[in-house]
This record gives sequence, C-alpha cells and structure tokens, in this order.
Amino acid sequence: MKILVLNGPNLARLDIRDSSIYGDFTYPQLVTFIQEGATALGFTADVRQSNEEAQIIGWLHEAADDLTPVIINPAAFTHYSYAIRDAAELLKAPLIEVHLSNPMAREEFRHTSVISGVAKGTIAGFGPNSYILALSAMKNLLGK
Ligand code: DQA
Repeated sequence: MKILVLNGPNLARLDIRDSSIYGDFTYPQLVTFIQEGATALGFTADVRQSNEEAQIIGWLHEAADDLTPVIINPAAFTHYSYAIRDAAELLKAPLIEVHLSNPMAREEFRHTSVISGVAKGTIAGFGPNSYILALSAMKNLLGK
C-alpha cells in the first residue's frame, strides 16, 4: 500500500539548516530513511517536497481522490496555511502530521498548528524517527 509523505518549504535544504535543531541528515538521506522504514512496515512511501503551497494543495487533492493515506510535514506552512488545512480536511484516509523538531519547545509562533485539527495526530521532536513513528501509527490506524 502506498503512503504519500509530503514535505513543505525549506525541508529539501536540511544540509544548510541549523543542525542543532534539525540534525545531520541531508534531505536525500531523510528520503531514503523514510522509504526504508516504510518498506520494513510493508508500505511504499511516495516522498515529495515542495516550497509551494499550491503544489502541496494539489498533492492533497490527488490523495483525496485516490484515498491515499498521508503523512505531512507542512514545515512553516504548519503555522498559518489555512489553504493547506482546508485541502487536508478533504482526505478520506488518515492524515498524520510530523515534525523533525518539537515546535512547542521553540519560538511562540511555532506553537500554533492550523493543520493539527484535521490530523489524526501529530508526532514531533524525534528527528527523522518522527516519520518512522508516524508510519508505525499509520499501520495501526489502517489495521495492516
Ligand atoms: C518543522 C518545524 C517548523 O516550525 C519549521 O518551519 C520547519 C520544520 C520541523 O520539521 O521541525 O520548517 O516542520
């Protein structure tokens, strides 16, 4: 079964982001880590990244049409994109929100997620393992 894993703005540049917050993985390493974790759990992960809100909304519409489960790290869009929230609300299969860092332990503007209200749950603060924990939670949700 396919799981769509969506990553928002700036996540493809983990190589130049603050490693004390985001760790030492590059984005290509993160993608491989997610794909391998998904395979071990019996899933295929379709991992995508975009810096553009419209692109992410389009991918969510595609997942809504195809009944695909979604794991999303909306990155900075987490905190203000009502358009991504509205698109996420259209999904029929479960949605899990993930973050590499723990936004609640960071600046106040990161304490709000406009996405959490339409997600089954949120996993944050475990670095790349946040995605593996989300895949495992997805497996339980889908009863696989
Ligand atoms: C992030 C947290 C967001 O606040 C931030 O804007 C990001 C990454 C994370 O994975 O920790 O770009 O979503």
